Amino acid sequence: MESIWSQGCQIRAREPLSGDLECEVAVVGAGMAGVLIAHALQEAGHQVVVLEANRTGSGQTGNTTAKVTAQHGLIYEKLIRTLGKDRARQYGQAHQAAIQAYRDLIRRERIDCGWQDCSAYVYGKDREQLQGEAEAAASLGLPAVFTRDLPPWLPAEGAVRFDHQGQFHPLQFLRAVSGQLTIYENTPVQIAEGDLLYTTRGKVRAEHIVFACHYPFVNVPGLYFARMHQTRSYVLALEHVPRLDGMFLGVGPDSISLRNHGDLLLLGGGGHRTGENPEGGRYDFLRQVAGAWFPGSREVAHWSAQDCMTPDGAAYIGPFAPSRPHWYVATGFQKWGMTASMVSALVLRDLIDGKESPYGDVFDPGRLEAGLLPGLAKEGGPAVKGIMKQVFQRPKLQADQLPAGHGGIVKLDGKKAGAYRDENGDLYPVATRCPHLGCQLAWNPDEKSWDCPCHGSRFDCRGELLSGPAQRGICHGKG
Ligand code: FES
Repeated sequence: MESIWSQGCQIRAREPLSGDLECEVAVVGAGMAGVLIAHALQEAGHQVVVLEANRTGSGQTGNTTAKVTAQHGLIYEKLIRTLGKDRARQYGQAHQAAIQAYRDLIRRERIDCGWQDCSAYVYGKDREQLQGEAEAAASLGLPAVFTRDLPPWLPAEGAVRFDHQGQFHPLQFLRAVSGQLTIYENTPVQIAEGDLLYTTRGKVRAEHIVFACHYPFVNVPGLYFARMHQTRSYVLALEHVPRLDGMFLGVGPDSISLRNHGDLLLLGGGGHRTGENPEGGRYDFLRQVAGAWFPGSREVAHWSAQDCMTPDGAAYIGPFAPSRPHWYVATGFQKWGMTASMVSALVLRDLIDGKESPYGDVFDPGRLEAGLLPGLAKEGGPAVKGIMKQVFQRPKLQADQLPAGHGGIVKLDGKKAGAYRDENGDLYPVATRCPHLGCQLAWNPDEKSWDCPCHGSRFDCRGELLSGPAQRGICHGKG
């Protein structure tokens, strides 16, 4: 199902690239990050084109909850511990600057996108932990306080409150900002080599190339596949709900996120590593919470989102790799793509202008500090497991034992295959091997998709590519 943002907002279609092109800056990806980076560079006087594989805003920007905040869960106490106070301050200030940059741009260009200033809350049951986080954030100059002034139905002993944050309609905003840019849609980039991007529609030669396509599809150099994984989370839009004074996020693995949009309430959660949802039931979990907290509410839409996660919690924004001095990257936004997209625009505009960014160090993709190293080692585990499963795991089910409405790894004609049987009993066999780096795919019953536990590529039940880093679908057949 489409998000409420996608259902209610059409963005003008653009023509695909037709033939070869030369430009100063080529941005790959027309989501929030790509559009904001291109807009900032164009404003600074650069000649920019944007290459989008599908449609503008058709990726994760349409699935966000669109909270614009520097409050990213309980992160500041951890950042001070792992990165030190200077980098933690840099992280917080960059995101605060991003919020103000949104306000300035919306005011300057009179963008009608429902922007609202509001407070952001992280609520939980461990009062000491929340007080510690509030103190840590405040010590970095962030607008943080501990509070017990919360809605009575919220299962919490307190919260950290950040004032003067924001929320908006992400696609209305994107529609306005992208309107001023040169964008080629339905123009997937297949290969990047030096200053050349090879698309299905022609070659683009650029002095600077920015990869802002969610998860970089280039494996070498950069090795982003070895230092990032993806997670999924789920959202319900509810009507007949209370009006909240602020945006809310719980602490812990089953935490619930809340914000209003007009008369609706967006209730999100049920997160898991992509490819690790064998039992499903994530939407049902959210529906149970909705029934308990907001009896009488009614679901009007549901959808899911995908996020790139880095081991130390900071995005990768900056030079792509030492061997490619004119390539840049913006990825690993955790669950905070709105502010991180604007941070990317601020940082990359400075770098491409030849200036030093005041925020560059903490997001430097080449960092290898203490906060990152233990996590890097952990990233490799699921990838090895995924490849071992593809090679050695034998299916327990025969294809004809697969019930209607279910999918899974089965034996078909004596060989391993992925298969989904629809409600009419028709079987859709696919390869089980992910075309990115060969891990075994897993069935996601909540979305009837094949998801990769290694780096998060996704495919629909017929094997068509939904999202990368894979660049093609899984062939129909056995594997
Ligand atoms: Fe990398 Fe599947 S996404 S192996």
